[in-house]
Parts: sequence; structure tokens; C-alpha cells
Amino acid sequence: ESSRIAQSIGIALDRFIKNNQDEFAYASGELSQLLRDIALASKVVNREINKAGLIDIMGGAGSQNNTGDDQQKLDVLANIRFTRALAKGGEVCALISEEEESFTDLNNNGKYVIAIDPLDGSSNIDVNVSIGTIFSVYRRKSPIGTPITEADILQKGSEQVAAGYILYGSSTMLVYTTGHGVNCFTHEPSLGEYFLSKERLIMPEDGRIYSINEGSANSFSEGVKKYVQYCKDQKYTARYIGSLVADFHRNMLKGGIYIYPSTAKDSNGKLRLMYECNALAFIAEQSGGKATDGKNRILDIEPTSLHQRVPFYVGSKEMVEKAESLL
Ligand code: AHG
Ligand code: MN
Ligand code: MN
Ligand code: MN
Repeated sequence: ESSRIAQSIGIALDRFIKNNQDEFAYASGELSQLLRDIALASKVVNREINKAGLIDIMGGAGSQNNTGDDQQKLDVLANIRFTRALAKGGEVCALISEEEESFTDLNNNGKYVIAIDPLDGSSNIDVNVSIGTIFSVYRRKSPIGTPITEADILQKGSEQVAAGYILYGSSTMLVYTTGHGVNCFTHEPSLGEYFLSKERLIMPEDGRIYSINEGSANSFSEGVKKYVQYCKDQKYTARYIGSLVADFHRNMLKGGIYIYPSTAKDSNGKLRLMYECNALAFIAEQSGGKATDGKNRILDIEPTSLHQRVPFYVGSKEMVEKAESLL
């Protein structure tokens, strides 16, 4: 078994980063350390997810986060794991998390700021459906050793130096970009390592899958209603997993569009710019796709608050442009 795996898999994550060090504007050792810290935490979270039901990590934690989400035990646990791993790695000076009201000060000599959704798709944890982690990496703006400033924390998406997601699915995958295309790594549990499984992933220019929660259809704008009707007239396939990372990853492979529009409940939609939309917008663009708020490029949006929401239209370029033409 392991010899068959050894023949078929690509190179390990660390080796890949070293082989491609020209693709990161800064010392590749720093990127290696950052991705190693994230990968380590993801392996711990992955192991806990695989034991859900056997150990007590299901259900609510009995608390709410800053965006009003009921925190699941695994939300809190994943947040702790990623925070600890990044604190130990020493490269990160400040951490923005869905599960923390303000940013967390880590190593003041660190050169990087990370925004993270530690556990995406919380509503799916207890029903054994794929969930994910989403992260963005920025370079700090203030001098090393000085206090963290707002300029370090509220950077627009085009300032990202790296972004990625982990998908805890039928296999656990780490997908990331440093601005030179998108590479996918699959976790090999028996070896405890991530190995390259897809290099330079390109999202199909067009597609026939649309992801939107039609439970909110009554409060969709006329334009969104028109686009959903267009998808039905074209006999597209509707797929909505309820985990953004899983819907996004499927669209990366097969082509498709994911929409979380303004609804009666949230006039700016539900998804958060800093730790969900910016990272996936960077990855979408790096694979030839598109990501807007229905009008403006996501990566150009100047953030004004840590947990701000934006309407999110992301996926195959032709599909996003068709949707925008009807809005
Ligand atoms: P999170 O679990 O990190 O709060 O994110 C959940 C998001 C996203 O993953 C998913 O696509 C969306 O919420 C589902 O929202 P609805 O249940 O409102 O459709
Ligand atoms: Mn949440
Ligand atoms: Mn999320
Ligand atoms: Mn989350």
C-alpha cells in the first residue's frame, strides 16, 4: 500500500516550497514556517474531526462570536489549535479570527498578519459533512517590534502575500497561492504529510453548477432572482453544501458559481470579507476565476472593520459576469 502511494504521490509540501522559493517575495523560509504551522494545526484539527462522535467535540459551546454565530465546540477548539501553532511558529505578529472579537497580538517581531476562519461550515460538523479552514496572509506595514497598528490589520485583499484553505472532506486537502497560481496538496494520514496532488489548478471559465441558499429567495433582489431563474432556464445543477470551502472547491474543479447575496437578515450577506471572501477571491483570480460583491472586485474593497460582511459572487468568470449583468 505505502509503496503504491509512494509511486503515485507528488512531492511533500516543504520540498515544494523550497523548490519554488522564487515565487514568494520574501524569505521562503518564512513562508515554509507559516505553511508548516498552518499544516500542523490542520492535522490536529483533522484528527479531532475524524473522532467527532467518539470524543466530546460536537454541539454548541454555549457562546456566540462577534458576528452572532453560535460557536460550536469545534469552532473554539480549531481556533485554539491555529492560534497556538501560529504563536509557536513565531512568524505572525497579529492574528484576526472569526472567533475573536479583536485581533490577537502574537510575536511582535513577526513580519506577518494572518486572518483566519478556523472552522468554516460549522453547521455541518455534527452531521458529518465536509468542513474547512480559510486563511489570508499579509505582510505587516508597521516596523518590526513596534505596536500593531490598524494599517497592519485592515489591509485590502490585494495586499495578500498568500492565501489558502483546508478542506476536511473525503480526503483532507490544503490549497494555497502566493500569487503564482494555485497548488493543491493532499494529506496522507499514514505518513502525516501533505503531498502535491494538483499543480497550477485552473478553474473552468464557464460552468453549469450554481450554489445559493434558495431558502432566502423571497428576500433576493430582482437581479439575483433573475439570475437564479436564468440558471433554471439553462437547466444548470443546483448544489449547496452549506460549507463555503466545499462549494468553492467543487466549483474550482468543475466550474460553477457560489453566491451569498444581500438578504433580509443581512443586507451585506453573511460572509465576512477579512477571513472568508478575501482569501477565496485571491485563489479564484489566481485560477482564472472572478470574485466580486456583485459590482466591485473583492480584492479592491478597503476594509473598515474586522468582521464586516460583503455580498459574495465567486467562481467561473463567465458565470460571475453573467450574474453581474443581471444585477
Ligand atoms: P462559518 O461556519 O465559518 O460561520 O461559515 C458558514 C458560512 C459558509 O461556510 C456557508 O456557505 C454559509 O455560511 C452557509 O450559510 P447559510 O446556512 O445561511 O446558507
Ligand atoms: Mn461561524
Ligand atoms: Mn466560514
Ligand atoms: Mn467559521
